Amino acid sequence: MPEPRIIKEYDVHSYVSYMQDKYSAYDNWVADQGVPTVSGSFVADARDVPVAPWKAKGAMGTILQFSDQRVCDAYVLEIPPKGSTTVQRQLFEEIVVILEGTGSTEIWNAEGPRTSFEWSRGSVFSIPINAFHVHHNGSGLDRIRYVALTSAPPVIEAFRDLGFVFDNDHVFTERFDQKDPGFFQKPDDYLTDYYGGILDTNFISDIRKIRLVPREARGSGNHNMYIHLAGSTMFAHVSRFPVASFKKAHRHGPGAHIVMLDSTGYTMMWNEGEEPTRYDWAEGSVISPPAGVWHQHYNTGTVPCRFVALHASVAFSGGIGGDVEQLEVNDLNEEMAELYRIECAKNGVDVSA
Ligand SMILES: [Fe+2]
Repeated sequence: MPEPRIIKEYDVHSYVSYMQDKYSAYDNWVADQGVPTVSGSFVADARDVPVAPWKAKGAMGTILQFSDQRVCDAYVLEIPPKGSTTVQRQLFEEIVVILEGTGSTEIWNAEGPRTSFEWSRGSVFSIPINAFHVHHNGSGLDRIRYVALTSAPPVIEAFRDLGFVFDNDHVFTERFDQKDPGFFQKPDDYLTDYYGGILDTNFISDIRKIRLVPREARGSGNHNMYIHLAGSTMFAHVSRFPVASFKKAHRHGPGAHIVMLDSTGYTMMWNEGEEPTRYDWAEGSVISPPAGVWHQHYNTGTVPCRFVALHASVAFSGGIGGDVEQLEVNDLNEEMAELYRIECAKNGVDVSA
């Protein structure tokens, strides 16, 4: 019997794209925020991306609607000197990475004492779902910029009721213990039954300083650490790879948002069978490879490269979107290798050393 021919009919079913275009509760909410949006897959520096007044948050912001991924979205927020955000709560999850500035956050579930903690550049924390929260800029001179990933798209899309999402009295006591004044200061714990460990914490004061473990499978000299924050189903991981090295190319589903922490370099991204596009990055860059797109990170700087990747909820496409495929070939083709040599040489880095 001959093999049946399989023909791909749709990327997105026409009914789904029609409803998304006409009736997307999330897109309507984004449009109502009155702030700029960034599409595509990349911003060179989230500390410089244009922002505008965001009334709902009482600060300045922009929404990163990368790759139309719909499992999560990021936003950048700027809090002016001495400024505070509005008090908010929301029925979706959020992970925050502080890019610049110093400040504090208060979090509470209902009546009673507030839990507060201070942060600065490199701090990472999760807002417990539906907890009230407010951020304060601790400086009279310097602004704050942070980037955050949220699960707003699927939650707003699923319930289509902003009152339910933003003004809901349910208290998630299992996620956040308001009576524990040290909730955001607890010592780092490692879930050691996962290979190499998972950092299980509620607050990271400096993401650049957490313990990493070798992960040679991702490339020679690679280290990383997965991070579970405040009971969130969204998660993060830090990756570090050495000077004069690159990570193996791989692809996966939607949702990963990579925040570059140091060094310089570039990422190649390409659809199967197509020419790669290059994205140059440094501290503050945010890159989100679209679902199924091959991507490969190259460090061209004089220090090891570190990034923190924020991931969608494990409830949506497993957080990294099902299958993760990696090109095990560690050698570059001649053209890619020559480009890498040239870009490293500009920084005095000899890749053959
Ligand atoms: Fe990736």
